[in-house]
Amino acid sequence: MVKNMLFNWKSWWWSLHKHNYLLVKLGVSILLLGFAFRLLFSQSTGFSEVSETPFLEKTENPVAPVSDGFGENTDQIPDKEECDLFTGDWIPNPAGPRYSNDSCKFIESHQNCMKNGRPDTRYLYWRWKPQDCGLPQLDPERFLEMMRNKTWALIGDSISRNHVQSLLCILSKVEEAVEVYHDEEYRSRRWNFPSYNFTVSVIWSPFLAKAAIFEDYNGVSTHEIELQIDKLDTNWTKLYQGLDYIVFSSGKWFFKSAIYYENNKILGCHYCPGKNLTELGFNFAYRKVLKNVFNFIVSSNHKGMIFYRTSTPDHFENGEWFNGGTCTRAEPVKEGEFELTELVKILRDIELKEFEKAAAKASEAGVKLKLFDVTPLSLLRPDGHPGPYRHFYPFSKDNKNAKLINDCLHWCLPGPIDSWNDLLTKMIVNG
Ligand SMILES: *[C@@H]1O[C@H](CO)[C@@H](O)[C@H](O)[C@H]1NC(C)=O
Ligand SMILES: *[C@@H]1O[C@H](CO)[C@@H](O)[C@H](O)[C@H]1NC(C)=O
Ligand SMILES: *[C@@H]1O[C@H](CO)[C@@H](O)[C@H](O)[C@H]1NC(C)=O
Ligand SMILES: *[C@@H]1O[C@H](CO)[C@@H](O)[C@H](O)[C@H]1NC(C)=O
Ligand SMILES: *[C@@H]1O[C@H](CO)[C@@H](O)[C@H](O)[C@H]1NC(C)=O
Repeated sequence: MVKNMLFNWKSWWWSLHKHNYLLVKLGVSILLLGFAFRLLFSQSTGFSEVSETPFLEKTENPVAPVSDGFGENTDQIPDKEECDLFTGDWIPNPAGPRYSNDSCKFIESHQNCMKNGRPDTRYLYWRWKPQDCGLPQLDPERFLEMMRNKTWALIGDSISRNHVQSLLCILSKVEEAVEVYHDEEYRSRRWNFPSYNFTVSVIWSPFLAKAAIFEDYNGVSTHEIELQIDKLDTNWTKLYQGLDYIVFSSGKWFFKSAIYYENNKILGCHYCPGKNLTELGFNFAYRKVLKNVFNFIVSSNHKGMIFYRTSTPDHFENGEWFNGGTCTRAEPVKEGEFELTELVKILRDIELKEFEKAAAKASEAGVKLKLFDVTPLSLLRPDGHPGPYRHFYPFSKDNKNAKLINDCLHWCLPGPIDSWNDLLTKMIVNG
């Protein structure tokens, strides 16, 4: 019902007022999200605040010994032939994180929970364990050896940036990456591991489609986004054929106010009151853009490996991000304890449907396209977000009067998304 009503925003909005509380809550959040994620999902990077302290080798924390594949596999159960890597549990990991705020300089200040004074540490002692197989931690040395002369790109929004920083930190144990490119705003960046000639890029393309975004550095928008739903963003398409491994993702930026163009003509919008345009709903645009992205991939004759990463959930409790919601959990939850928000469910539904259609065509065309389905396992980690610790010592005297916005959307580093890189490695090794 909810989904059907969303196809027509006006009728949905109308029914909102008429019907139940859940929908009212959903409607209000869509409206407010529509204005802009501002602080949380702005395009600013805050990279200027990243400390440039030199890499300090920690001798008491040596690289784990290699046993098989890509690192120490402590799971005793032999792998079943068919293993769904994304069904499993977070299990205790007494060894703790592979890097710290001291050993890695690539952590963005807003996600540097250690440095920002997050007092609890239990959230650092877990690792993802698929039900039917082991998941070794990627061994940075072997990983880099495997990636000699290869190029990776993570393409998407600030969660992709979050992800790339985790990878750089894990690998920096063996060699520190050297930045070889950044755009003016430090949103798209490229690094190289000189001894391995391995290149990693993060490409800022929050819609994957062509978009004009009118936001200042603080994420305050002066105009609706102009999204060309039928044109892919050339910022990634022009680099595409030169990439060996690509992790795409998108989603949350579609909640924002936007005017949708097709064939260079206005088709409608999402949340644009006073504009006399047809409300098409963000789901309309997301589906259309994903179809285009997948069509591009399927017909690209690409020889590498392409992943689509599903949307990651937020974990605001007792409110939303704009009205005092928090995330104060200290450890993972079991399946069923947290539900996806209605908005993320809508994104996910589109992702799964469009992926499934594309996967069949990709396999016919010999293109390696894989679903990197981190939504369910991420949903179990309400403890992994910065919360108030997106700010440096948020509860110190100097900050007493500041209005705290909690970040229950991005992930602390080190943190749960370090496992994403183990999963990607396993998928690559499995072919
Ligand atoms: C790392 O975090 C700890 C607190 O957990 C802090 O004492 C230390 O100064 C931080 N290091 C850097 C380089 O920020
Ligand atoms: C990497 O590229 C160099 C130079 O083209 C080549 O000599 C070397 O064999 C390549 N290594 C691998 C593993 O492809
Ligand atoms: C680095 O890798 C690229 C392929 O990504 C290759 O064309 C180039 O020759 C390599 N350079 C060196 C110095 O090995
Ligand atoms: C592509 O990159 C250019 C230059 O960095 C930037 O101005 C433009 O907004 C980018 N496109 C999208 C869709 O972000
Ligand atoms: C809104 O658009 C419709 C169709 O384009 C037009 O008939 C109508 O006059 C417009 N209303 C206003 C208030 O501009």
